[in-house]
Amino acid sequence: MHTDISVIDIIKKRRSTRNFDKKDIDKQRLQRLEEFIEEINRQAKIRARFTLTTNNREDGKAKRLGTYGTIAGAKTYIVGILDKDEKDSVEFGYLFEKIVLFVTGLDLGTCWLGGTFSRSNFRESLALDKNEFIPIVSPVGYIKDKARLVDTVIRAGAGSGKRKAWSDLFFDSDTSKPLTKEKAGPYKTPLEMVRLGPSASNRQPWRLVKDDNKFHFLLSRTKGYGIPSYDMQKNDIGIAKCHFELTAKELGLKGKWAKEDIGMVDGLEYICTWVGE
Ligand SMILES: Cc1cc2nc3c(=O)[nH]c(=O)nc-3n(C[C@H](O)[C@H](O)[C@H](O)COP(=O)(O)O)c2cc1C
Repeated sequence: MHTDISVIDIIKKRRSTRNFDKKDIDKQRLQRLEEFIEEINRQAKIRARFTLTTNNREDGKAKRLGTYGTIAGAKTYIVGILDKDEKDSVEFGYLFEKIVLFVTGLDLGTCWLGGTFSRSNFRESLALDKNEFIPIVSPVGYIKDKARLVDTVIRAGAGSGKRKAWSDLFFDSDTSKPLTKEKAGPYKTPLEMVRLGPSASNRQPWRLVKDDNKFHFLLSRTKGYGIPSYDMQKNDIGIAKCHFELTAKELGLKGKWAKEDIGMVDGLEYICTWVGE
C-alpha cells in the first residue's frame, strides 16, 4: 500500500466525505497520490486508467465539475476511466478502492460517486478517447469536520453508518448456514473488513461462502439497480476483493484468486473464489 499505516486501520477509518476544506492539497501528498495512481495504471490488466482533474482551472476548462450539490469544497477529483467495451467492473472497483484506501492513508477524504456527478462536465475537463467513458469519480481533499445537511440526508437515506450482520453476509458451506466468527478462523478479520466496505447506496451486495480453504464471492443483485453502461454492483464485489486481499496479505494469509465453474447459487451470482494456501 506504500503507507506505513495498517490497512485494517485505514478501512476502519474510511467513510464517505462530502464536505471538504477549500485549501489545496499540499505538494507532497499530491505527488504521492500521483505516483500511486501511476502505479495502479501500470498494474491494471484491464482497459482502464485513473487520473486526477481539478475544478476551477485557470485554462477555463471545466470551471465546474458538477456533483448535483452532493460534494462541497473539493477542487481535486480522482477520475476512473474505462473503455466502453471493457466489461470487467469487478477489477475496476478493486483498483479504484486501492486508490481510495491510499488516499485515506494520507489523511484525506474521498467519496465514491457513481451516480451524482455530471459525466459530461468531467469528460470536458479531460482529453478522453471517444471509446472511453467515466463510470466513477471521487473528490479528494482535506475533510471538513462539519457535515452539511445534504450529507446528513444522504447518509440517513442509505443508512451509511450501518452494515448488515455477519449472518446475512457470510455462510458456511452453503447459503443456508451462517458462518460464525469462530468458524471463520484466521479469516475473521478479512471478512470483517469486507463488511465495513463502501458500496453503491450501501446495498452491501457481497455474499461469501466458506468451503474448506476457499471463499466463494457471490453477488446478491438488486434488480433494476444502477446505470445501463456500468455494472455498479459488480464494482462493489471488486471493493470486497480489495479489502479481503489486502487484509489477508497484512495478516500473512496466503492465497490466490480463481474462477470456478459455479454459475448461480440460490439466486446469487457467482463472481470468483479466494483459494487459501
Ligand atoms: C460504487 C459506488 C457508487 C456510489 N455512488 C455515490 C453517489 O453517486 N453519490 C453519493 O453521494 N454517494 C455514493 N456512494 C457512497 C455510498 O453511499 C457510501 O459508500 C455508503 O452509503 C456507505 O457509507 P460510507 O462510505 O460512509 O461507509 C457510492 C459508493 C459506491 C461504492
